Formats: sequence, structure tokens, C-alpha cells
Amino acid sequence: MPYPKVTIVGAGQVGATAALTLLTRDIADVVLIDVAEGMAQGKALDLMHARSVLRFGPTVTGTNDYAQTAGSDVVVVTAGLPRKPGMTRDHLITVNSGIVASVIGAAVAASPDAVFLCVTNPLDVMTNFAWRLSQLPADRVLGMGGLLDSTRFAYLIAEATGAAVADVEALVMGAHGDAMVPIPRLSTVRGRPLTEMLPEAEVAEIVRRTVAGGAEVVALLKTGSAFYAPGACVASMVGAIVSDSGATMPSCVLLEGEYGISGVHMSVPARLGRGGVLKVVELDLTPPERDALRDSASQIREQLAALEAALA
Ligand code: LAC
Repeated sequence: MPYPKVTIVGAGQVGATAALTLLTRDIADVVLIDVAEGMAQGKALDLMHARSVLRFGPTVTGTNDYAQTAGSDVVVVTAGLPRKPGMTRDHLITVNSGIVASVIGAAVAASPDAVFLCVTNPLDVMTNFAWRLSQLPADRVLGMGGLLDSTRFAYLIAEATGAAVADVEALVMGAHGDAMVPIPRLSTVRGRPLTEMLPEAEVAEIVRRTVAGGAEVVALLKTGSAFYAPGACVASMVGAIVSDSGATMPSCVLLEGEYGISGVHMSVPARLGRGGVLKVVELDLTPPERDALRDSASQIREQLAALEAALA
């Protein structure tokens, strides 16, 4: 049987790492596309050179031409600039919305039946923007944010409790940014809530480090931002989509009344499969958790307003 076809727009660190993971896990044939001449082609060739030692089945090609992405099952959009020192969030919104706009039309034209997975920051705003530009049904355009925040939370929970990471379930909802909402009460080690396992102050510290996880990597690297965990999360979501697994993962999706929130893309647990978002899962949250989620949505709305102002 042929492998599913996945296009990754942007052959930077996140795109290339996602490609490597999709290949080594035998999930999909990959087309890497980038505006930079040779970048996608070079990384694709380098990845193919690894094929005989890594023994993966699928193939990867690099291109600058959307014609080669035609008929993709999933299109992952990683293109965009990371935030540089001194750059405001609004500046990033302006620059990256231009990049996303230049990508979406061509990518949708080439693959009108694809599921679109947005990774470009600011994630929640760019996912909403990509969805509006695409004119596709909302279940076919989602973003990767909450899964990354949740895997960082899981790592910290495993470290603090000494548990195997496989025994940890961690949940972060809301915006992919400072307004993210880790949910310790619904994060568990072998089914036991974190809130019953560690003192409150320790839980608070883990939550703080989860929120700061991306920035901690940026501060250490000094140039650029995280890519191993983001690339792995992209591959994991793509795997669930193309295999139609129905797995539930925190995913940036359009909320239409769930959790009392409408018209905003943000991360909540969602079942993923062939059609993209199969179902938005509505968990029973406590009033403070619901309030935190609404505050998170308000911050995203402010960014959406900043995008509208920049486009006007
Ligand atoms: C992160 C940024 C890049 O969380 O979104 O690593």
C-alpha cells in the first residue's frame, strides 16, 4: 500500500525534524517545500542518505514548487520567523501572517482535500488566520500547540515524581504562550492526580516551568527556538490523522461554544483522524479552570484584533 502523502511547508529545524520523525516511524512520504532555493532539496537528500541505515520505508523530496505537493493528505505549515530579541509580538503577527498568507492559497489549491496543521507562531492566531484564508471547514484546519505544552508538562511531572514518563498523562489547554492553562488536577501518574502526589508549591513550580518551557530552550540555544519536541508533536498529530486512529490529543481547534468559548482557536483535547478534528472533547472543568481558559481566550482575541489592525 502506498504511504500517505504529507507536505511540510518550511524546511527549517521544526519542518526537518518533523520530516525525520515521519520517515523513521514509517508514517508518510514527505514533500518538503521552502522558498529558499536548495534548502528543502538539500535536507531531503540528506534525509534520503540516512534511509539505508535507518531502514525506513517512505521517501522524502524537496522542492520550491507547489505542483509537487499536489494531492497531499496533510499539509503542515511551519513557515515563519521565530521571535528575535526586541521584536514585539505584534511585529511577529505582521511578518508571519504575510508568510502564512503566501502559503495557504497555493497549498490549498494543490491539495484541496488535505488536513492543514499549522505550527507557525503565534500559533493560535496563525491557525485561525490560516483557517479563514483556506475557506475550508473548521475540522480540516488545526494547530499544534497544546500537545507540545503537554509533553513538556509530562516531562517535568516524570522528573519530579520519579515516575516513568509512559505512566504520566499531562494536560495543558488554552493558548500556546504565557496564557496557557496547565491542568494539574487532570494530569496523572498511573491514574493518580498530580495534585494528590506533590505539595502545592511543587505543583506550582512545575506549572511555571511548563509555561516557560519554550523560553527556557530559547535562552539556552541563544539562536532559534525548540525543534525536537515540536517536530515530534507534529509527527504524532500527523500520524493520528493519516492512520485515522481517533486518538485524543490536545489540539488547537476552533471553539464554537465548547467551554463557553466561541470564535477562537485554542488547544483543547480533540479526537484526530482522517477528516482532521473528529470531535472536540469537552472535559468537566472546575470554575477556576474554566475562568483560566476564558482568560486565555481573551488574550488570543486581543492578538486576533492586532492581526485585524495590521491587515486593515
Ligand atoms: C515553543 C515555541 C517555539 O514553544 O512555540 O518552543
